[in-house]
Parts: sequence; structure tokens; C-alpha cells
Amino acid sequence: MLNAVLKTFAGRIVYLMGSRDFSKKIIDWYLLNPRDLPWRKTKDPYRIWLSEIILQQTRVAQGLPYYLQFVRNFPNVKALANAPLEKVLRTWQGLGYYSRARNLHACAKEIAFKYNGKFPDTYSNLLTLPGIGSYTAAALSSIAFDKPDAVVDGNVFRVLSRIFGIQEDISSSIGKKTFYNKAQALLDPKQPGTFNQAIMEFGALHCTPKSPGCVDCIFASGCYANKNQMQALLPVNNKKVKVRNRYFTYFILMKGNKMALKKREGKDIWSGLYDFYLIEGLKRKKPESILSEDHVLKTIRNKATIVSQSEAYKHILTHQRIEATFVILSLSRDFLIKDLKGIKGLKFYSSKEILALPKPVLISRFLSKNGILE
Ligand code: ADE
Repeated sequence: MLNAVLKTFAGRIVYLMGSRDFSKKIIDWYLLNPRDLPWRKTKDPYRIWLSEIILQQTRVAQGLPYYLQFVRNFPNVKALANAPLEKVLRTWQGLGYYSRARNLHACAKEIAFKYNGKFPDTYSNLLTLPGIGSYTAAALSSIAFDKPDAVVDGNVFRVLSRIFGIQEDISSSIGKKTFYNKAQALLDPKQPGTFNQAIMEFGALHCTPKSPGCVDCIFASGCYANKNQMQALLPVNNKKVKVRNRYFTYFILMKGNKMALKKREGKDIWSGLYDFYLIEGLKRKKPESILSEDHVLKTIRNKATIVSQSEAYKHILTHQRIEATFVILSLSRDFLIKDLKGIKGLKFYSSKEILALPKPVLISRFLSKNGILE
């Protein structure tokens, strides 16, 4: 294995860090600086898998309470497999990107029923499971099963691009391959799980995106980005995210204290979650004009009174910027449940029932801000 090498470059002697130097240094750093996290105190693949899926969605501080709630609600893979999807979505609520939660459930079912509750222990078998891509397969095989598979996530891209001056575009397949090969070459095969966690931890705590701790960095003298003041330019990511603006008007039909909600069908990110009757447009629109235009709302117009209209709720996701307004419509006493029949799927729920339903964050933000829930 390549260790420290002295090379001449443009008449100067330069120091190239070897893989053993790198892995020893980063593991030594990690052993002095690890965060005290529950999934680091276990070899249980179920718990490690849960933590890794959650951490793909959020940072450690925000992910920790979700992890604890998941373990409380579903202490093992069979409990998760046997739980209703709605309970899994409700526990995931707030993490966003709900297909991860649906895959989590599908994966638990496959492990519980096809593998009799035992996680496969190799990268290639793990990769066949729902929701397990190359990152999760490598994390699980190295951390839970001590297999020599390197992980590459956003932290790894940043640490390796800066220290080694890798300027390949991380959004390209060639770039991904370059980083994967580099991580694999650096990995300490005797302690792959520790190495993988060390490099991710170093990226999360020290070699951070905005203000990396270069002044007291263990790699300062050999780091390409530090020497060339290129911290802000690395890693190179040429993929520009296209952001779409969406305008939502939610109509909350209320009869007494009950509110009408429906389960979202279809294939979008909120599929399976519950929300109110929703009209979406490409521009802001006054609720009164929607009320007189929308064919469903028109049919109940003479039995509904506008009670309130909220301020605009902004909700920013990776690919979309949503502005939502909530309009509360009070339905008259002579409005019958069957009068709702034109509005597919809407049913009346009490606040206690709503609390238990999985809902998009926008909906629970509105409900809690108005003292209705949570
Ligand atoms: N990010 C995702 N998984 C991680 C882990 N196991 N350790 C440190 N950072 C992580």
C-alpha cells in the first residue's frame, strides 16, 4: 500500500499522503472526537440501518429524536414489518421525502418475511433490498458486519476533494467513480466501520461546508484546498437544482369541531399522507375567486362561510418553493356528510383523530400554529 511519498513537482519536493497515513490520522481524530450516539453503541444491523436511513434525510441533531421514536415504536425489524404503513409514516412525519419511509417499511417486510428477520450481511445482497442504495449498503456492511466497503456521502466528497484536490464534478458518473475509488483505496480494511464513520464525522464536525476548521486541522499542512485557498470551491458540483414555484390554497371544511381531510393518492412525495381539499395554481389567487370557479366548491358554496384566511406559509424543499394559504370554511348545520360526495376521499375527523394521521409538515405547521394540534 502506498504510504507517504516524496515527489518532485515543478522543481519542488511535494508530500503526497499515503492511504495508511490518512486512515490512521482520521481514525485517531475520530477516536478523540466521536459524538456519543446510540447507534454507535450497538452492532444490531436493524438499529444501524434505521440510523443510516434517517441520517440521509437530516442532520444528527434533528435525526436523533426520530431514531429514538422509531426504536420505541418498532423495537425490531419484525415489529416494523408488522406495523401499519400509516404508523410508520406518522413516525417519519417531518423528515420529508416520504418514499424513504415507504421503502423502510417495504425493506423491513422483505427482511422479516424473506430473510426470517435476519439482515443480509454483504454489500451485494443488501443492495437488492428496497431503499438500500450503494451508500446504505456500504454503511451497513462495514459498520454492522465489518466488511471492507467504503461509503461515499456528501461529507466524504467534501473531505476527499479538499484534502486531495480532486476536482472532478461530483454530480457526474465519472466523478462519483473517482471518489468511490479514492475512498476504497484509503479505507482501513481492518476497521472499515470505524474508518467510514471517522471520515463522515470529520466532514460533519471539522471539514464543514461553510467555515471549515483549517487553523487547527490535522491535515492542514498536506491539504490541497488549504494550501490553495480553495475550500469554498471544493467539491465541484455542476448540477444546478431547478426550483419550481407552487401556490397552494387549502380549504378546510369544518362541521362543528370536525375537519375534512383526505388521503393523498398518486405518486408524489406526500403520497399516503392526509391533507385538506387543495387547489393548486401557478400564481397566487384570491380564495373568493377559487370558491366561485372550482366546480366542487361551487356546489357547497351556499352552505359554507369563510371564517378565516391564513397568512402565506412558505415551505422550501430542494426542488420546489411552496406558498400555501389556509382558508377555513364553516359548513352550515343543514350540510350533510353526504353533501361531500363530490369531493373524492374527504372525510370528517376530530382533532384527536387528526393527531394520529400522517400529514405533510405544512399541514401540521398550520394546525399547531393555530393551537389545533401538536
Ligand atoms: N452520517 C451518516 N451516517 C453517519 C455515521 N454513521 N457517522 C457519522 N456521520 C454519519
